[in-house]
Amino acid sequence: MSEAQIIDGKAFAARLRERVAAAVAKIKDQHGFTPSLTVVLVGEDPASQVYVRNKGKQTEEAGMGTDTIRLDADTPEQDVLDLIEKLNNDDSVHGILVQLPVPDQIDEAKVIAAINPDKDVDGFHVVNVGRLWTGAEAPVPCTPFGCLQMLKETLGDLTGKRALVLGRSNIVGKPMAALLLAEHCTVTIAHSRTVDLAERCRESDILVAAVGRPEMVPGDWIKPGATVIDVGINRIEAPEKGTNEDGSPKMKLVGDVDFASAKQVAGHITPVPGGVGPMTIANLLRNTVIAACRQKGLEDPDL
Ligand code: GUN
Repeated sequence: MSEAQIIDGKAFAARLRERVAAAVAKIKDQHGFTPSLTVVLVGEDPASQVYVRNKGKQTEEAGMGTDTIRLDADTPEQDVLDLIEKLNNDDSVHGILVQLPVPDQIDEAKVIAAINPDKDVDGFHVVNVGRLWTGAEAPVPCTPFGCLQMLKETLGDLTGKRALVLGRSNIVGKPMAALLLAEHCTVTIAHSRTVDLAERCRESDILVAAVGRPEMVPGDWIKPGATVIDVGINRIEAPEKGTNEDGSPKMKLVGDVDFASAKQVAGHITPVPGGVGPMTIANLLRNTVIAACRQKGLEDPDL
């Protein structure tokens, strides 16, 4: 059998960002306002700093308004809640994102609950989770929506396909399952306690891996010809790349799927990096533009 075709998330995300930028230009021109996103970062988590910087940069490149509010790691919970209240009441802010994880003194659920659901561009608020599962209009979490866009672009109609989502997080696994169900897939949500996991995977036409365990899914768990979407971004040691000046091993990024063996079996597969990752921020921009239009009583742009 021939090797899997690579799903190029980087190219896909670049096209989506272009469409967002065109929609933003049209909104500014025809309606005289600028869709704007405010990102709140509490503390100095290194990975979060990178994400937040990229969010700011790409928001700006799309012609949108962008603001990043950085708070000290020891900021009291009430200060964060007060800030969210202020942003909720600011008509020039259309999207609010609090970067997760937040430091221990802050209750993540409380923070998410404080965001106006219409400005919740992550789609994490319980109101939006409920809207998603009941088929109402809602901002949809950016990463799973990116996975769905790539699946539909690759496979067309998903009706009747057997889909397995490996992982049950609120950010990826659960909303991914809701989205696949809405596309008429037969959905299994598998996790660390699933019995006969390899067998369940082998039955699946679509496999979305989102567990955060480096290279956990080997090629022989994959149904020949299946479409594999790898959400994992894991940094592991790469002794084959040599050592740093201080003698420590070089690092590399890998997914939750063992790419080398999986691509011998799958029909289509996303690489890491360059697969799902770039889709997340592109969809954050999309969600912000749509949220802005809804707040202004305009029709959703075609994105
Ligand atoms: N941390 C990791 N991914 C995300 C995300 O999609 N949204 C937010 N707010 N925080 C994150």
